[in-house]
Amino acid sequence: MPSNKKTQRPKKTSPVPKSESEIDPERLPRHVAIIMDGNGRWAKLHGYRSRIQGHRAGIKSVEAVVEASAELGIKVLSLYAFSKENWLRPRHEVNMLMRLLAQYMEKEVKRLNKNDIKLVVSGDIDDLPLFVREKVERVIQATVKNQRMTLNLCLSYGSRDEIVRATRLLCQQVLEGRLTPEKITKEVFAQMLYHPELGDPDLLIRTSGEMRVSNFLLWQIAYTEIYITPVLWPDFRREHLVEAILDYQRRERRFGRVIEE
Ligand code: FPP
Repeated sequence: MPSNKKTQRPKKTSPVPKSESEIDPERLPRHVAIIMDGNGRWAKLHGYRSRIQGHRAGIKSVEAVVEASAELGIKVLSLYAFSKENWLRPRHEVNMLMRLLAQYMEKEVKRLNKNDIKLVVSGDIDDLPLFVREKVERVIQATVKNQRMTLNLCLSYGSRDEIVRATRLLCQQVLEGRLTPEKITKEVFAQMLYHPELGDPDLLIRTSGEMRVSNFLLWQIAYTEIYITPVLWPDFRREHLVEAILDYQRRERRFGRVIEE
């Protein structure tokens, strides 16, 4: 028990989990993206004075969901771990998040290798303090050959920044005479984003009930199915991921077309 914990019974936030055996392996989402939200509210609900306890608890969910995703057969998992806007949070919270990230990198590399998971990062990795960047780069190197699943950790990430960056890269190519404006298509544009090889997410999950996309993968989610759960991120576990996948599998994806009877 932490010393700053008040006596307060936490409210139950999890819906009833569904069975994993109902998942159709032929129709699994290939790429799942998650906006991990609700750490601060979780900390408050559990009587902690500091939001950091929520982030700390959120790491357990990250570990559980990364492992479960690989075991369920998901090929790409994108996690929104730290946004460009998150730098504007109180300095203490940012510093603690950086420390947690560094600890996660140190602890998780073994498990990523054991589960054959490759780490990539989307975002401005140069914004990170050196002690975090070095650890992140070490894990990227150590897992580069892994093949079962790719974990795309979005760090100092903002989708509008990503789109502006892509535009600059294209302008540079035009200026250097390697590309003409008429040759810029959706496909060419997409190649300039951080990790085009990962493909677009099939399913976007947001925890804690907020109905927003918060500058996450705006280009890539044009036809992504969105699933919003009231579960706060630190409570999110394998069964909630299963529930989201089952919900996804009940939907008809039309990509703007009409499905003939
Ligand atoms: C949103 O909750 C969550 C974040 C800003 C950070 C997510 C970070 C983690 C899950 C832990 C670190 C991650 C890794 C990969 C090591 P919030 O603080 O906005 O919650 P609130 O909306 O309830 O205030």
